[in-house]
Formats: sequence, structure tokens, C-alpha cells
Amino acid sequence: MRVLKKAVLTGVMALAIAGSAHAADVKIGFVVKQPEEPWFQDEWKFAQKAAEEKGFTLVEIGAPDGEKVQAAIDNLGAQGAQGFIICVPDVKLGPGIVAKAAANDLKLMTVDDRLVGADGEPIESVPHMGISAVKIGETVGQSIAAEIEARGWDMSEVGAIRVSYDQLPTAVDRVEGAITALKAAGFPAENIYDAPQAKTDTEAALNAATTVLNQHADVKKWIAFGLNDEAVLGAVRATESVGIPAENVIGVGIGGAESAINEFKKPNPTGFYGTVIISPKRHGYETALNMYEWIANNKEPEPLILTSGSLALRDTYVDVRKDLGIE
Ligand code: GLA
Repeated sequence: MRVLKKAVLTGVMALAIAGSAHAADVKIGFVVKQPEEPWFQDEWKFAQKAAEEKGFTLVEIGAPDGEKVQAAIDNLGAQGAQGFIICVPDVKLGPGIVAKAAANDLKLMTVDDRLVGADGEPIESVPHMGISAVKIGETVGQSIAAEIEARGWDMSEVGAIRVSYDQLPTAVDRVEGAITALKAAGFPAENIYDAPQAKTDTEAALNAATTVLNQHADVKKWIAFGLNDEAVLGAVRATESVGIPAENVIGVGIGGAESAINEFKKPNPTGFYGTVIISPKRHGYETALNMYEWIANNKEPEPLILTSGSLALRDTYVDVRKDLGIE
């Protein structure tokens, strides 16, 4: 009996060691286009959590341009990784990335920005997790429309800054969702001005929005929306720089990471009225876990997952974040 017990125990231990040795062999890359952006830092943080839980190694790489993406993939291949998750700097790099991943024998999943093929259509063979862009954009538009009404503004006197980045399909879906909701609420289409940003950061948005404000110096009340919090923060900073008071500005972003929180923490409200909080936990933790399951247990990830968002304002964001498990 004792011998049997010992034999069983040894077997269990051997299995446990075999299991963990396997997890320790797994190496997963998490490549992002803008490592300085809090959203991407949060994605890394949650992906790291999955790595700690499962015992695999996570390799975080920032790749702000196509050349760095190519180098990152080769680098992951050379270090013996088995797969990677990527948010690309340019979705048109799609076919090249798919080929490079295959050449390095790496499994590939995308997050946030979905790769497109030569025909401009999404590459459906690459599993993807993104946000429900149109719906989240609509939430942005609805919340702005509700606040316009709450402030008793006459919509015909209000200008809208559409901070745009039209080369990225999810960005188009987000701003168009906002416009659909605003128009449905009676906002005049002719008062919506396009502010194309050269990059998806605050500075580029500030520059783009400043041009619009200068062109329409007669307009005294403004609303602003864009693909993320940085876009809207840029527009809000632009209104401040031309002397428009915060109570005449309603900007609603998308994200809910540090960029938005720092704004809500300011002692006085700014024109950054709200944000739709999306989930870096799902985008970081879940994509990393799904990649791990694919590598270690041959469990293929779902081809397309679209995550939702929750509106948060200055006085509700703490609770909303708590509910979403992203304190
Ligand atoms: C894009 C944006 C990011 C973030 C993610 C969310 O990649 O550039 O700021 O909004 O989408 O999916």
C-alpha cells in the first residue's frame, strides 16, 4: 500500500513537473505600436498577469513602424517564441506580417487594430480582438448630445471637431458611430469639421484641432470626439489654447486609461467631459491567455472577439473601473 501510494505520488509529481516545464517553454510576444500610450501599457500589464498565472514568458516589444515590426518578428523567432499578439502601426502591413510570422513559425493574433489585405478587406484568417467600434462611437455621440441638452445649448451654434485618422478602419467606425448618434439627436451635419491627425497621439490631435478652431474663430461652443482619449485630449488642449472656457467644450474620448484619469483628477473640470472605458484586461489578459492555450493545448482562439465599453464621467469613473475589474 505504501509502495503504491509512493508510486502514485511520484507519478503525480512527474506530471506536475512535465506540465510546468511545458508552460516554462512557452514564449509569447506582445508587440504594440505605441508603447508610451497608457492603454498599451495596461494591455502589457494584464498580459503579464496571464503569463504569471500560467507560467509562460511574455516578451513585450514596442514597434512604432513597419521596419521595427519586421525586426520584432524576426527577434521573436530567433528567441524561440511560439507566437505573438500584435497591435500594428499600420494595418496595411497585413500581408507582410502574416508572411513573416509564418516564415518564423509563429502563431499570430492581432489586438485593437485589424490587419487588412491587399484588397483592403480584413484578413479573417488571423484571430482578432478589437472593440465594438461603431457601438462605442454611438455611446460617445449619445453622451455628447445628452450633455448639449443638459447645458441648454442651441445646436446650430455649436461646432464639432471630428479628430480623424481615416487610414485606420476602427478609427473611422468610432467617429462615424459618434456622428450617427449626434445627427440622430438633431446635430447639424454642416457644423461637423474634420481634423485629420498625422499620428494617433495628443500632440497630433492638438495640431489638427487648432487648424479647425482657427478656421472657425466665430464659433464659441465646441464638442469633440475621435478614436481615443488622446485624440479628444488634443482637441480639448486646442480649445484651451485659443481661450475657449471649459464650460463651452464637451469632449468625450474612448479608452479610460491613465490619460483620461489624470484629466478627471484635475481639481477643476476641463472640456474633457467623459470617456467610454474599454477593457485593457480583456485585450491584454485574454488575448495572451488565448495565445497560450493555442500554443500549449492546441486550442484555436475564436476568430473575432469584439469587446464593449462603458461611459464614465468625472464623478463616476472610479466605480465604472471597479465594476470592470480594472482598478
Ligand atoms: C487603437 C487606438 C488605441 C486604443 C485601441 C483600442 O489601437 O490607437 O488608442 O483605442 O485602438 O482597441
